[in-house]
Parts: sequence; C-alpha cells; structure tokens
Amino acid sequence: MRKINTPIKIGSKMVKNRITYAPTVKFGWSDNTGIPNNYFVRHYEDRAEGGTGLIVVEATCISPSGRLAPSQLGLWEDAQIEGHRSISDACHKHGAVVLVQIHHAGYNTHPECGSSRGPSVVEWRDNQTEALSHDEIIAIRNQFIDAAKRAKIAGYDGVQLHACHAYLINQFVSSRVNLRTDEYGGSLENRTRFGCEIIRGIHEACGSDFIVSVRTPGAEPTVEEAWAIADTYIAAGADYLQISGGIGPEEINYPEGLPYNHIVWYGTQMHTHVNGRVPVSVVNGILKPDLACQLIEEELTDTIDSARALLADPKWARAVIEDQEYVTCRNCKVCFWSPFMEHKCPAVTQRYKTDPNCVDYLL
Ligand SMILES: Cc1cc2nc3c(=O)[nH]c(=O)nc-3n(C[C@H](O)[C@H](O)[C@H](O)COP(=O)(O)O)c2cc1C
Repeated sequence: MRKINTPIKIGSKMVKNRITYAPTVKFGWSDNTGIPNNYFVRHYEDRAEGGTGLIVVEATCISPSGRLAPSQLGLWEDAQIEGHRSISDACHKHGAVVLVQIHHAGYNTHPECGSSRGPSVVEWRDNQTEALSHDEIIAIRNQFIDAAKRAKIAGYDGVQLHACHAYLINQFVSSRVNLRTDEYGGSLENRTRFGCEIIRGIHEACGSDFIVSVRTPGAEPTVEEAWAIADTYIAAGADYLQISGGIGPEEINYPEGLPYNHIVWYGTQMHTHVNGRVPVSVVNGILKPDLACQLIEEELTDTIDSARALLADPKWARAVIEDQEYVTCRNCKVCFWSPFMEHKCPAVTQRYKTDPNCVDYLL
C-alpha cells in the first residue's frame, strides 16, 4: 500500500489517509447572512466522496465586522449552525474528518463590513489601520472561542485557526505590524498570546477531543521565528499544524533544484523542527500525485494539503491513492481571483461538459 493511503492520528481522530483539502473561500455562493447553502454542502460532500481524508471548510468569520467579503460564511451566531451541520454530516457520511477554518480579517476587513483594525496603527496596503483596544482584543478572542463552540454543535471534529496569510492572528505575531506595548505586543511570548489564549480557550470550552489545528506561516519573518511561534501554539494545545505563507520574510531563500516551491520547503523544515510532537502538513503547488506521494514517502511531512488540485477534480484524492486518471489543475491561478471576478477555472469548465450538475462551475 502506498504510504499516502495509510491512516494517521490527528488529535483524537484517525484520519484514513494523508490527503487534506485546504480551505478555499467561495464568495458569491452565499448571501450576506453567512449561512452555508446547498452549493457548499455539495461541494464539500463531493471532495469527501472523492476519498479526501480530512477536509478543512473554508475561512468562516467569527464576527460580521471582521469579514473579508460581505458574502463570507460565518459562525458568529446560532442561526448559522444548521447550514454548517449539513456540511459536516455530508462529509462524515463518506468517512472524512472535517474541520472548519475560523477567521478574522483584521487589517484586511472589507470596508462594507468594518474598519481596517488590528494590533496597531500601521501603513497597510496604502491605508492607515486602527489599533484595537485591550477590551476589543478580549472580545474578539472570545468570539473565536464562541465560534468554535458553535462549530462543535454543528458536528465538526474541530477547527483550524486561520493564523497565516496576513490575517488577524498572523498580524499579532508579526513584529513588523504589531507595535503594541501592552501584553499583546513586544516579546514573542506577548505577540503569540492572542493565538495561544484562543487555543487554550477552545480546548477548555470544547474539550480536549475537539481538534484545534493552526494554519501558521513557515517563515515569519525567519524560519527560526516561525518555529518559535509554532512551539508556543503546541505548548498551548494545538493538535495539528498546517504550514503556509504569512506576512513573510523580506527575502526568500531556499535550496535550488527541489521539485517543490519555497512554501512547501518551509513546511518540510517545520516538520523536521516539530519532530513528531504533533502532525504537520505542507501546502502549495502540490498538483501532481507523484509529488504528493514523494513528500509522504520520504517523510518530509505527515500530510499534504491540496486546494487547487481538489478544486479542479473532487476525486483527486482517490486518483492519487489508486493511480487513476483525473482532471488536471493547469496552474493558471485564475481561481485565486475567481471569488472576486468572473473568471472560470478551465479544469472545472472541462468537467462541466461531462457533468452539467457540477456545482463548482459556479465558482
Ligand atoms: C479560490 C481559493 C480560495 C482560498 N481560500 C482560502 C481560505 O479560505 N483560507 C485559507 O487559509 N487559504 C485559502 N486559499 C489558499 C489555499 O488554501 C492554498 O493555500 C493555496 O491555494 C495553495 O495551495 P494549492 O497550490 O494546493 O492550491 C484559497 C485559495 C484559492 C485558490
């Protein structure tokens, strides 16, 4: 059996294989209520049915005033629970473990949803941000914990903290954009306090069986500092680390000649550093089965996350495991912008020709 098809324990759950669906927002599928509708249920069920071991449902906001887009999914109120339960039930039917990514955009909040607020007053993408007060930080921390409680009621096996890609938790850990002088800024211990309090608060409220994964950068701004950040998350109780990009290093420096990019390389370095304390996942540009299998076979990571390969073909995991044909992601990157624009993924368009019911065609 290929090693990619062997089970792995993540937190309290056995995951049947090493392939994880990375979170991908689908703005425009929903209205402004943040409630998932049947498009989302079909989309995630298709990936579970297609053999994916662990699914992370897309960035779901913990507060209406921290959304990245007005139509982002939410878990800020109880009325949103039922729609999420339909997603978790649909994925569980096919044996997948399912987490939901909980998120606050911070400085990147959409202007129709709230102001650009985060740890400090800084220049951010041509605008000036506002600093959260101490009381507001505590309130947002509690909103993350309350969203996790709703996620548990909705039947999810756990949550993933969105602590990368320059959103709020990532903004707190970065000394470049966190200039605070209270206990949430300054030393690394202070900058990671916000994320760590959320992790501890979720385990206290939802129990140690409820998985808390953290999606955290592999270099922030250095590889060594990203390791130190991850160490604090593990000490606070993180069950799984999924490594991606962040506000990032000023200079990207990684070995030449590798079959994968620098974000995956940073992830493999994190895997070595973590050394089995919790499982680690890598992501970015893992579009071909051979690369996915190689990363697992050579023990460079415990699991691999895939976004675009699984957007292109919901049965990609089965294709990897059973060496079958699949619809290939063409690496054209239009999907990175499709939540905001009218571009269509050419792979999904190809699939739609043989399956006109393919819900992803709406993406
Ligand atoms: C359409 C789209 C939506 C995305 N939405 C999210 C998201 O909700 N949360 C997140 O952490 N990353 C998000 N990402 C980033 C992916 O999870 C992933 O890290 C990135 O696409 C690189 O992996 P890949 O090469 O397998 O696609 C998104 C990417 C795409 C293409």
